This record gives sequence, C-alpha cells and structure tokens, in this order.
Amino acid sequence: MEEAASIPLVGLTAWQVLVERAKLAKGQKVLIHAGSGGVGTFAIQLAKHLGATVATTTSTANVELVKALGADVVIDYKTQDFEKVLSDYDVVLNSLDGGTLQKCLNVLKPGGKLISISGPPDPNFAREQGLNWFLRQVLRLLSFGIRRKAKARQISYSFLFMRANGAQLNQITSLIEAGTIRPVMDRVFPFEATNEALAYIEAGRSKGKAVVAAK
Ligand SMILES: NC(=O)c1ccc[n+]([C@@H]2O[C@H](COP(=O)([O-])OP(=O)(O)OC[C@H]3O[C@@H](n4cnc5c(N)ncnc54)[C@H](OP(=O)(O)O)[C@@H]3O)[C@@H](O)[C@H]2O)c1
Repeated sequence: MEEAASIPLVGLTAWQVLVERAKLAKGQKVLIHAGSGGVGTFAIQLAKHLGATVATTTSTANVELVKALGADVVIDYKTQDFEKVLSDYDVVLNSLDGGTLQKCLNVLKPGGKLISISGPPDPNFAREQGLNWFLRQVLRLLSFGIRRKAKARQISYSFLFMRANGAQLNQITSLIEAGTIRPVMDRVFPFEATNEALAYIEAGRSKGKAVVAAK
C-alpha cells in the first residue's frame, strides 16, 4: 500500500510532462532536474522506457541512485554547471528555482520544449483553470520574461500543473506491474509523525518519495 501511495502524484506529473505535453519520442534527449527526488526518480524511468537519452542533475551522494534508475548523463550540481555540459536537448523538465529555469534555455535546441512544474504559471494554465481576467493578467506578467526569452530562441515554455487522470494511472500501473518502473521510497513515517514527514519533505533532500502510513 505504501508503494502504491507513493505513485499517483509523481507518476501523473511525469506522465503529463513527458508523454502528454512533450510527446517525448525514441531517440530524443531530455534533461530531468532533481533526478533523485519524487518526480525525478519516476520521470527518469519513464523517459528511458520511452526510448529517450536522459540527463539529470543531482548531488554527489545520489549519483549512483540516478544511474541505477537509468540516467545516461549525470550532472553533479555540486561540482558541475549543467548548462555548460549539456546542449541540443529536445525537452527539459524543470522542478527547480527561477535561476535554473533561465539556464535551461542554454541546453535546449530550437524547437525544444521547456516544461516547468515549479513555475512560473503561464496564460494557458490560467485559461485551463478558468481564472478571472485580473488573475490571467497577473500570470501573464509572471511568466512574461521566460516566455519572451524562450520565444527568441524558438523554444516553447509552458507550466504544467498535474491533474487526476484514471486512464493514465491505469497505464502507469501496467508499467509498474511489468517491472518497467519501480517505486522509489525514501522513508515511511507513521501517521503520528505526519508533521515530521512534512518537515522532512520541506528540507528538500528526499530520495524518491516520503510516505505517511495509515494506522
Ligand atoms: N506542478 C505540479 O503539478 C507538481 C507536481 C509535483 C511536484 N511539483 C513540484 O516539483 C518540485 C519537485 O517535487 P519533488 O516531489 O520531486 O521534490 P523532492 O522529492 O522534495 O525533491 C528532493 C530532491 O531534489 C534534489 N535537489 C534539491 N536541490 C537540487 C538542485 N539544485 N539540483 C538538483 N537536484 C536538487 C535533492 O537531491 P540532493 O539531496 O542530491 O540535492 C532531492 O533528492 C517541487 O517544487 C514540487 O512542489 C509540482
């Protein structure tokens, strides 16, 4: 049950970025940031299953973990600058800060796709959410800079916010049952330690998912 609980958020997020939005194809190159995190550990395995060449960023301590998940190129962010090492990528999945988002532009080739799950939200997201005119303008402004810089390089920028989807979960389940993708769990916290679990996640060092077990 704990392994099952660890999947929907990260599985659907990775699926919607790589399959639905990026349409990642065999032979393409994808950079997945924070490969040792919840989303990253799933996304690396999914991208390999789709036949892509996968680069990822992580710290020294997690290099072996992301290699074992299938990453072809591992950038240790403690010692290397990913934007100086990688080039001509088709897709980047960004889950880090705004500074990293800007640097991702240097890694992508013209026609490439920069998809961020950590913001900033864009006007399409505002439309999908049915936000009012004022909020739509706020989101337009928030993402104006990155959209403008991306467009100048013929790169598309978009923000993705995961949504529930039973059909996609079915496909994800098949991949897990076939052993193609394995859940990566860091710690399982007892229900009473939920606050501790939240603090642990907030510290940003989780290797895969942290799970709170029901009684
Ligand atoms: N839009 C959406 O629908 C959606 C869905 C899911 C998640 N998110 C967001 O996506 C982000 C990632 O979520 P997550 O659950 O995968 O996070 P997470 O599991 O908490 O990520 C922790 C991992 O990030 C790595 N990391 C931290 N700083 C890094 C850096 N500078 N470079 C490379 N790796 C770094 C850490 O590795 P080290 O210990 O080696 O540094 C750790 O393994 C969060 O901001 C979350 O809110 C958004």
